Amino acid sequence: MVLENKLCITNSAELARAEEKISKMKAIALYESNLVDESEIGKFSGLAKIHKFLFEEIYDFAGKIRTVNIAKGNFRFAPVMYLNAALKHIDDMPQATYDEIIEKYVEMNVAHPFREGNGRSIRIWLDLILKKELKLVVDWNKVDKEDYLLAMERSPIKDVEIKVLLKNALTDEIDDREMYMKGIDASYYYEGYNTFKAEDL
Ligand SMILES: Nc1ncnc2c1ncn2[C@@H]1O[C@H](COP(=O)(O)OP(=O)(O)O)[C@@H](O)[C@H]1O
Ligand SMILES: [Mg+2]
Repeated sequence: MVLENKLCITNSAELARAEEKISKMKAIALYESNLVDESEIGKFSGLAKIHKFLFEEIYDFAGKIRTVNIAKGNFRFAPVMYLNAALKHIDDMPQATYDEIIEKYVEMNVAHPFREGNGRSIRIWLDLILKKELKLVVDWNKVDKEDYLLAMERSPIKDVEIKVLLKNALTDEIDDREMYMKGIDASYYYEGYNTFKAEDL
């Protein structure tokens, strides 16, 4: 099953490679832009801008709320029927402390508003919140991918693992592009791809 895409690719491995390469190039451009307004940091509107920017050359659904229900492993993300309400609720969640920010991040992951590309866009969204509110970001080089995925799978039930994992990786070096790029590394994919590095693009 290959997602319908603007590149007209019908092979899933090929799509994964093309998608990763394009979205990483876009992520670099995003880093150097002022795409998300201060007032949209921590809001769904800000996340939608990020997602649209990363994926608009690849998918028609870039930046748009999904219209199908999705699941990963045993976990069903928010049903389409409740997605708008969930996103409104998340917009209003506080983001003053580290714990509040991670709770908001976990809720946004549970919402999984897009058909594909939630992990990458929501990690960028999280970094923007941490940067604005705490003058910190996650050094994604310090986050073990397997531990991360286990903590994310666990997070809808209990968020202590993801809180500890990301807390140990916080840094005040908030203007390091390498660290940011690591956060959108494709090896965080549920499917486990890992190919391009920023310097290969
Ligand atoms: N079983 C699960 N329960 C909750 N969250 C999960 C689960 N599996 C994966 N995730 C989260 O979903 C992300 C993958 O979502 P996806 O839409 O495929 O984004 P991307 O294509 O950017 O990797 C992972 O990075 C992780 O944060
Ligand atoms: Mg994916």
